[in-house]
Amino acid sequence: MTIFLKKLIGVSFAFAILTSCSNPDEGKSTKSQKDSRVDSLLALMTLEEKIGQLNQYSLGSEFTGSSNKNGQDSVRYQQLISGQVGSVLNLLGAEDTRKMQELVVEKSRLGIPLLFAYDVIHGYQTMFPVPLAESSSWNLELMQKTAQAAGAEAAASGLHWTFAPMIDVTVDARWGRVMEGAGEDPYLQAEIAKARINGFQGEDLAHNKSIAATAKHFAGYGYAESGKDYNSVNINQYILHNHILPPFKAAVEANAASFMNAFNDINAVPATANEYLLQDILRDKWNYDGVVVSDWNSIGELVNHGVSPDLKDAAKKAIMAGSEIDMEATAYVQFLAELINEGEIEEAKIDIAVRNVLQLKFDLGLFDDPYKYSDLDREKEIVGNQIHHDLAEKIAKESIVLLKNDKNLLPLKNIKNIAVIGPLAKDKDTPLGNWRAQAIENSAVSLYEGLENVLPKSTNLKYAQGVELSVGPNNFFQEQEINKEDRSGFEKAKNLAKNSDLVIMALGETAYMSGEGRSRADIGLPGLQKELLKEIHAINPNIILVLMNGRPLELSWEDENIPAIVEAWHLGQRAGTAIAETLIGKNNSSGKLTMSFPRHVGQLPIYYNHKVTGRPSTAPGQVFYSHHTDVDNSPLYPFGYGLSYSSFEYGEIELSDNSMTESGSIEASVSVKNTSDMDGQEVVQLYIQDLVAEETPMVKSLKAFKKIMIKSGQSVEVKFTIEKDMLSYYKSNGEISLEKGGFKVFIGKNSAVNNHKEFVLK
Ligand code: NOJ
Repeated sequence: MTIFLKKLIGVSFAFAILTSCSNPDEGKSTKSQKDSRVDSLLALMTLEEKIGQLNQYSLGSEFTGSSNKNGQDSVRYQQLISGQVGSVLNLLGAEDTRKMQELVVEKSRLGIPLLFAYDVIHGYQTMFPVPLAESSSWNLELMQKTAQAAGAEAAASGLHWTFAPMIDVTVDARWGRVMEGAGEDPYLQAEIAKARINGFQGEDLAHNKSIAATAKHFAGYGYAESGKDYNSVNINQYILHNHILPPFKAAVEANAASFMNAFNDINAVPATANEYLLQDILRDKWNYDGVVVSDWNSIGELVNHGVSPDLKDAAKKAIMAGSEIDMEATAYVQFLAELINEGEIEEAKIDIAVRNVLQLKFDLGLFDDPYKYSDLDREKEIVGNQIHHDLAEKIAKESIVLLKNDKNLLPLKNIKNIAVIGPLAKDKDTPLGNWRAQAIENSAVSLYEGLENVLPKSTNLKYAQGVELSVGPNNFFQEQEINKEDRSGFEKAKNLAKNSDLVIMALGETAYMSGEGRSRADIGLPGLQKELLKEIHAINPNIILVLMNGRPLELSWEDENIPAIVEAWHLGQRAGTAIAETLIGKNNSSGKLTMSFPRHVGQLPIYYNHKVTGRPSTAPGQVFYSHHTDVDNSPLYPFGYGLSYSSFEYGEIELSDNSMTESGSIEASVSVKNTSDMDGQEVVQLYIQDLVAEETPMVKSLKAFKKIMIKSGQSVEVKFTIEKDMLSYYKSNGEISLEKGGFKVFIGKNSAVNNHKEFVLK
């Protein structure tokens, strides 16, 4: 039994509240047991204490005495010790979290423990590939493991709660935050959401290696107009229900402990004050019983959005809609009590939200032991350990996407003189990516280091940076950018290229060129890189282009001129090892894109599962059909695309039947043969097209996939079961619709597949 509630409410009552969780195994107690404990506690709380549970601050160690600053005279300190703060973000480390927990548990009247939250997006200290990169692995098991490892590191550092995964479907590569999610497809995004949530949360939230996950940003944030961060979202209901919401529904089914709302307005209503989303869909339709946190000051931003005249009105709108925890706007702590006293909102509304917060604290076992996560020994043992670094290497290898490989230039074969050129070749920081939590700066294995380690000593490896990394004049955070003016490094790079058999060029975006607030209008290679690439190409066209970036890039010139292109994203801790081993063929690439790469930025937004339109593209020479006159309709590299050193041949699709009923199913199978002399993994993808529907259908949608290893020369029969769930869609009114009629099933290596068969739902 814990002492903190005892001191105030008496032994017998505290025992009644807490006894059901005094044994760690009973973290799995039933919902009704937990609910009764929550209600007992709620009954003891004053209105101010309740509102405190809904107040979240970003606090540093100034309150715990371990930094020089002293926050103890501040308003926030007083609020902390009087139970007016329920959760804290950005405070880290076993030591500091323990101290702050002590402060609150010891000094506040009820001693209700705090929740410590943080953005653990793709690792805590050990950096895994950025989420978009990881999604290219299509390996759900590995993604679950990286989330689990990230969660274990965070938990050992005193954290209870991550603001991840971001499960916003994203169709516009100009938006910087595409790096944080799993790309453009709702089905894949949903599968990955479940894997990541399961990874973070484990089987039991009360386990001290599990942390609570957050499904974010609810909803529509990925559809910011023109890819400009925080911009308005104007989408129709079909897009909302069929593209945006399915991953969130999957998150509810996976028991995500929390949801975070979004900054954007969606069809003229800010997500933070959106009753339709937060109440009608999330609570009423999906029966979600976790907690909803606002995004950073998104309640305050209701004033900027122009729907609230002041913060008090914003507080009212947000709580009424269902935003339960106020992150950093101070709207609730300032105004909720007043609003209740004035009869503007009912206390019962607050109680619902407080219950959800307390429930999470019970679920995490914090009433059993508020300090269980803050353990210095475990922190030393778990954070950044070797096992996690090895895992980072493993998934990095599966996340690399081979975009082009003319004449099998790759894998490298007995090459004597290699020039390694480019601003990212020796960069140990870029591979760590944006949203890097507690990553140690410059701690990634660089590409150059990776090559040095794997190439035989007989290879002559030389390096020139070509273009420098620098900090631009308007760079608020002083982050490295790619130089836009200084060509002084070109000469050395060109000389090197001239005297080498092969050039490996490492180009792309530095870590902070994608991510929040990093939308770009031009998504070509930034700075002087393209110019350098062209000049090197003129001297020695035997180039392997290794790209490091957090979003799809526009690569039309590169695709036309460079013989081999490797998409290596921001791959995390062991990036250099993973890339080098792929270049020499020790690792066979198996990644496939989860976002389309455009031919031209003017094609954006571009995604494979678009509508057919009334004028679909037809024969050449036509004018009056849906197209741009100056660029082909297709993307440069489609969703699902990626090459391998192996070659795979698909046979014809065989269907067990050419019709099915609602209660029946059809088995679709295809033989996939590895016709090369190298073992390799292939992601076999199944898409379905509804041929005629009451609402205009999409050209095709991913419904299933399998990542399988096929040995050299072997043929594998890959089978899928088509069931009614794969044939339905959401109508604009949000209702699911299963309509009789014809369907096409496609099975192949990417979304541009044409190998198909038809069947009928009777
Ligand atoms: C703003 C971001 O939109 C959100 O994703 C993040 O979790 C919060 N800041 C907290 O850092």
